Amino acid sequence: MSFTSILVTGGAGFIGSNFVRMMAREHPDTKITVLDSLTYAGNLENISDLIDAGRVRFVKGDIRDPIAVRAAMSGAEVVFNFAAETHVDRSIEEAASFIETDVQGTYNLLNFARELKVARYVQISTDEVYGSSDGTDFDEESPLKPGNPYSASKCGGDLMCLAFANTYKVPVVITRSSNNFGPYQHVEKFIPLFTTNAMEGKDLPLYGDGMHQRDWIYVEDNCRAIALVAEKGKTGEVYNIAVGNSQPNLRVAELILKHVGKTDSRIVFIEDRKGHDRMYKLKAEKVRKLGWQPRTDFADAMEQTVKWYVQNRGWWERVKSGAFREYYEKHYKDKLARGKAK
Ligand code: NAD
Ligand code: DAU
Repeated sequence: MSFTSILVTGGAGFIGSNFVRMMAREHPDTKITVLDSLTYAGNLENISDLIDAGRVRFVKGDIRDPIAVRAAMSGAEVVFNFAAETHVDRSIEEAASFIETDVQGTYNLLNFARELKVARYVQISTDEVYGSSDGTDFDEESPLKPGNPYSASKCGGDLMCLAFANTYKVPVVITRSSNNFGPYQHVEKFIPLFTTNAMEGKDLPLYGDGMHQRDWIYVEDNCRAIALVAEKGKTGEVYNIAVGNSQPNLRVAELILKHVGKTDSRIVFIEDRKGHDRMYKLKAEKVRKLGWQPRTDFADAMEQTVKWYVQNRGWWERVKSGAFREYYEKHYKDKLARGKAK
């Protein structure tokens, strides 16, 4: 099924841009608006071809800003909220921006979803809300036990969503996925950081003993699940999204080195992240019952992902150096200021 018009917040980030690209490709009749404030993590290059082609209307704005949100959400049938502060290490240094965007921003979006009577509001959340697992698989009813300021702020957003579904009957659904990988992921995150460092012949900084596990899902498999939950999910319900592919970080680092084919990089064990969650484990039967199943094999997708970073060196070099901001200034600033980018 296609939606007539969707608002994608955070659509210039990693998962949001992959979602926008998938929807633009597979649903040619769906009108797509992206609302993104372009923080350090937002990169217009991720969707610039679609903006240039007039396929995506881009609005530079903050989800905490009522005026920007009302304008961007007007006419939207479905809202997908990908916008968030997302990096655990940054949240350990400074959590205020996480609370402001992930809780306050979500609250602001919900208020307008209610007022404008959107048909569906999809909150993109994370497996981290359940905290570290001792081997137990968490289902959607498991208690929330966040282990760091990022996941605590995501819990705040999720709970506000559930409150709006119950109190005001806003048609909210929540997805909680495991770790995503794929193209356009910011180089601060594990897989792109290690891949690009290996290409540059730099060390790969592995936290602690390197045996923390993450359950990796290819980004497009997650995007398909999110679209399905928007269509078939039940209001007020949470849907876990995971494939059950837990890998110790050390093994993923070794795989990256193999695919990059560089011998001048080495894995270096460094001081552990504070409060580092050992592993996440999800039961995802509920989303499978809606008809979802992953299409991607981890080994193939890892090889393709590393290849993407090898082939798109300019993209990540601009992210690492901050030069992607100049790209934005050069290509879009005037257009956006005049309100003509669409
Ligand atoms: P990202 O950091 O790559 O992108 C976040 C985007 O949100 C950026 O484009 C940024 O500019 C925008 N943004 C941030 N604050 C904003 C604000 N106040 N107003 C408007 N835009 C703002 O993040 P990602 O990895 O693509 O994650 C997207 C969503 O998925 C997040 O909600 C995250 O919690 C969730 N999630 C991510 C993963 C993962 O592995 N990456 C896994 C599970 C859930
Ligand atoms: O589980 C879903 C979450 O996955 C999302 O909600 C978050 O937004 C996303 O950032 C991600 O969080 P993680 O903390 O799991 O991802 P990160 O890429 O930061 O780290 C993955 C693992 O790699 C983790 O165990 C920490 C480790 N790591 C990470 C970095 C950046 C290292 O060993 N060295 C590093 O330099």
